[in-house]
Amino acid sequence: MSILEGARVVLCVSGSIAAYKAAELSSKLTQAGSQVDTVLTKAATSFVAPLTFEALTARAVYSEAAPMTADHSIAHVRLGQDADVIVFAPATAAAIARLAQGLTDDLATATALASPAPLVIAPAMEPQMLGSDATQANLRTLQERGAHVVSAAEGRLASGRVGRGRLPEPDVLLDAIRLTLGRAGVLKNRTVVVSGGGTREYLDPVRFLGNPSSGKQGVALARAARDRGALVRLVLGTATVEPPYGVEVARVTTADEMLAALRNAVQGCDALIMNAAVGDYRPQERRETKLKRAGGVVRLELQPTPDLLGELPGDFIRIGFAAESHDHAANARAKLHAKELDAIALNDITKSDRGFGADTNAVTLITADGSERDIALRSKDEVAEAVLDLVAELLAAR
Ligand code: CTP
Repeated sequence: MSILEGARVVLCVSGSIAAYKAAELSSKLTQAGSQVDTVLTKAATSFVAPLTFEALTARAVYSEAAPMTADHSIAHVRLGQDADVIVFAPATAAAIARLAQGLTDDLATATALASPAPLVIAPAMEPQMLGSDATQANLRTLQERGAHVVSAAEGRLASGRVGRGRLPEPDVLLDAIRLTLGRAGVLKNRTVVVSGGGTREYLDPVRFLGNPSSGKQGVALARAARDRGALVRLVLGTATVEPPYGVEVARVTTADEMLAALRNAVQGCDALIMNAAVGDYRPQERRETKLKRAGGVVRLELQPTPDLLGELPGDFIRIGFAAESHDHAANARAKLHAKELDAIALNDITKSDRGFGADTNAVTLITADGSERDIALRSKDEVAEAVLDLVAELLAAR
């Protein structure tokens, strides 16, 4: 289950031109199953209407003009007590200053002060205001108290200037909320290393041996580990998707580079999820210049790449992936034992709805003690959740 499902989010919108993006955020949160209570500052209502959020979230919207709940509770107290997370997006310089000072002269900051829930703050303002000593000191104060501050994005601002100060896109905000909700999760204080994507081995400056791994499953695994509170190190090879927010990322191309990055990443880790589609062979020789068309057959000599799992000693949980086209279960079990894994996720790469490039996947999780669980066809995010549930169980059983 996604961490957003059933989460109670208080979305505080302050007076910035970026307030319209908060409407999309409220919609995405609602679609993900969160209960969203919106609080608009007086200035925010000049940019967006309460009705916009009421329609998108199917819930009452609070503002200075409507500070009571439908059952006559005091809104800031009720919202603050019930919240799992309080999000200020966009957060103006004034809202950040009020939060840092503990001022409660509007409903949004009063709700934050009346709540034990963690804060997510997404500043949006002119670069000069954002970079000012006052705003930076206020943000530092809030971070020291545990708030998660989302870095403003660079680009064109309402003033026409270009710089850092834009509210990040709703998907980034969604990720920051997921990370914050998950902070106290089952993998809190754990370090999880995930490898994902494919590798490329060049035979000349432009040609390579590679595979069509999209990196989607690896990125989903990293996100799911992050959402359970883990510190995540993602070693990502060639991929068509971007690494997720809030994880440490090392980008690599070849199997050797992946091995070097993993050697660093596994230092002190609790679990390694080896999802990358590592190429098993590379050309014996890499030419410095492009191989010219000369006609006739060209013979390519291949040498094996190292088995990365075999080169990464350490006392951590190891999960492998087995991409099989035949004798699936027998091959996967053989790899589980040969590579001394705690579990292996078996997938059948002959079907187009799973594995390489697909948005969905279906795996059988086989553990070293012989137990098996079938994770029937579902999104790669949901498969990742099942894998991380298993990692948490294996760690708890240690
Ligand atoms: N793996 C690895 N190093 C390699 C190749 C694979 O660490 N050079 C890891 C993969 O990330 C995966 C597991 O080993 O977790 C099994 O990978 P797979 O490609 O299914 O198996 P191989 O060991 O490469 O064997 P084969 O290609 O013969 O099936």
